[in-house]
This record gives sequence, C-alpha cells and structure tokens, in this order.
Amino acid sequence: MQTATILNRQWIYKKRPTGRVGSEHYELRETELRSELAVNEVLIEARYFSVDPYMRIQQAERNTWEAPHPLGIVQRGGVVGQVVNSQSAAFVPGDWVVTFSGWQTHAVCHAGELQKLNTEAASVTTALGVLGMPGRTAWFGLMDAGSPKPGDVVVVSGAAGAVGSLVVQFAKRAGCRVYGIAGGADKCRFLVDNLRLDGAIDYRAFSAPAELSAEILRQTGGVDIYFDNVGGRITDAVIPHIKKRARIIICGAISQYDGGLDNPEQGPRFLHHILFQRATIQGILARDYTHRMDEMLAVVAPWVKNGEIYFAETIVDGFEKLPDALNSLFEGKNLGKLLVRA
Ligand SMILES: NC(=O)c1ccc[n+]([C@@H]2O[C@H](COP(=O)([O-])OP(=O)(O)OC[C@H]3O[C@@H](n4cnc5c(N)ncnc54)[C@H](OP(=O)(O)O)[C@@H]3O)[C@@H](O)[C@H]2O)c1
Repeated sequence: MQTATILNRQWIYKKRPTGRVGSEHYELRETELRSELAVNEVLIEARYFSVDPYMRIQQAERNTWEAPHPLGIVQRGGVVGQVVNSQSAAFVPGDWVVTFSGWQTHAVCHAGELQKLNTEAASVTTALGVLGMPGRTAWFGLMDAGSPKPGDVVVVSGAAGAVGSLVVQFAKRAGCRVYGIAGGADKCRFLVDNLRLDGAIDYRAFSAPAELSAEILRQTGGVDIYFDNVGGRITDAVIPHIKKRARIIICGAISQYDGGLDNPEQGPRFLHHILFQRATIQGILARDYTHRMDEMLAVVAPWVKNGEIYFAETIVDGFEKLPDALNSLFEGKNLGKLLVRA
C-alpha cells in the first residue's frame, strides 16, 4: 500500500453569479489527496472534463429539479479519467473510466461510482457526449417526447451543440424533414454540409423577430416537432408556426441562463398557439432516462462504431481554463460537445 500524497488541483465553486458565470465565481485550490485506498476504492486521474449548460442553471439560488449547487465545494460534473491505483478487483491501473468526480485533477472514488470504458468500441470522449448524457437527452427527448414519424418537420434550436447536433441526426434517421437553428454561417454550413439537414437558419442574421419568424416559415412551411434548447426570441419565432398536434420539447433555455431564469422579463409567450393547434409541450430531463441508457446505447453505439453518426467535439486544453470554457458556452464558441482536456 502506498502512503504518499498526491497534489490535487480543484476548481471550487465560490460565488453565485447574477449574470454570466466566469472565473471570478471559482477558486483554484491545491490540496493534498491521500493515496492510501480502502477496500473497493479507486484513485483516478481526470483526463477530460465535461462542460455543460446545466452547471449554470444549478448556480441559481432557487431549487430547480434539485437543490442549488452548494458553495465551497468542487464544481460537480462528468469526467473521463484513468485509474492510477485500485483496491477493487474490477479496476486496474490504466483503465479508462467515466464518473462524476467534478472539476478536480484526481479523485478517490468507490468502485461503484465508476463505469469502465471499452476503448476499442469508441473514443473515450464519447462517454461524455454522444454515448453519454447529451446522447441520452437527445435520444429520449426526441424519440420518447417527440414521437417522430417519417415526413414530420422537425426544428431544433441550438442545433450545432452537443445535444442539438445529435437530435437533428436522430430525426433524419427517423425519416423527418429537419431544420436546425444556430448562430453564424459556419455552424449553418456544418448543419447542411456535414449533418445533411434540409435547411439551417442563422438566427444571428435576423435581428428583427418578425424576419427570423418569416425565415423559419419560409424554409419549413410549418413545424410538427420543435426541440428547444434555447428559449427566448428563437422560441418566440418558432411557436407561431407549429402545425396541428405539434410536439414541443423543452430541453433547455440557454438564452435565459444568464439571469433570465431568476428574473424573467415576461411570462410564457405565444401559448395560445398551443390551443389553436392542440399541441403539447413537454419538459424532458436526462436523469429521468438514466435507467434506460442501455436501450439508447444498443441503437446508437453501433452507429458511432460504424461512423454513421457525426459527433463534433470542441476540446479546450488546460485544467485552468475550465471556468472560461463554461463561460464560452454562452457565446457559442463550441461546435458539438465542449470538453476540457486536463
Ligand atoms: N433537459 C436535459 O436533461 C438537458 C440535458 C443536456 C442539455 N440540456 C440543455 O440543452 C441545451 C444545449 O445543451 P448542450 O449541452 O448541447 O450545449 P451546447 O448546445 O453544446 O452549447 C451551448 C450552445 O447554445 C447556444 N447559445 C448560447 N447562448 C445562446 C443564446 N443567447 N441564444 C441562442 N443560442 C445560444 C450556442 O450556440 P449558437 O452558436 O448556435 O448560438 C452554444 O454553442 C441547453 O439549454 C442545456 O441546458 C438539457
């Protein structure tokens, strides 16, 4: 048994943001981590950190789907790492694992908190993206809540992001006509050229709400499924174009996370269209589908292995960049899943 200590670098969540989150809301701390392990404990070193919009939601003072992220502890989050030392028969040094040890370079975990990754089946980073929480969100959000049918017109906001870029591909595979809304010409080109969408709308090119709304109608002709990652003015522009029995899936509202969730400027908007079209709105949460993860992996993992799904990743190098990376989600700097490499 080793007795040495390990220098552990941690991002401690210190202060609740009222607007945009940044490094001023965190403290970089160095601590010593014991390396002696009890039975069934495993020491891991983090290699990739997941950076997710929900982190900002949980920084609010109010309850969401759970209590707010406590102050003074390591920022929680998904991690892909490697085993350094193990007192569990299930893990040996060098094994790749996915876990939820948060923004710290090392962690002592119980073996039950780790899931071993098969490095031959897919790149390890997919465990935080297409074969992880974002993939689960996209799959069950669309297939369960959206019930897509061939020929349905599907519109996805945040379409070039981690969840959105998967939803659009799953919808294409379900035989739908699919349109993505994203910020900037490059992302829109990516949606049409790489993901083979039927159309893409650059919301930044339309500052007047009526023009954005008119462009959505012009391209789509009406919407059967709206998968919403963004909320705000983009959603205002889509909802008047829903068709009869449309399904609106509320996955996220990132345009409101900088303070709009705590102090909304207005109440729900354009909901009379739900009445006119007898549509449904459903919120979906990834954790409600955790127990069905194998169901999703059985379908999607072979697509990934065969190169049939395009999973874009934006990888930022440097543990010290984590808070800035979180901030960058709100400026749209990522294409696909945003990760930080240790
Ligand atoms: N319900 C669930 O269980 C669940 C699970 C995962 C994620 N989510 C939600 O799904 C959404 C996407 O998450 P993700 O992990 O896939 O992140 P992501 O889409 O990879 O990254 C965020 C993207 O949001 C867009 N964005 C940021 N601020 C915006 C604004 N003011 N207006 C319009 N677009 C804006 C940016 O793309 P552009 O360059 O296109 O603006 C940015 O790249 C988020 O709302 C997140 O909270 C929900």
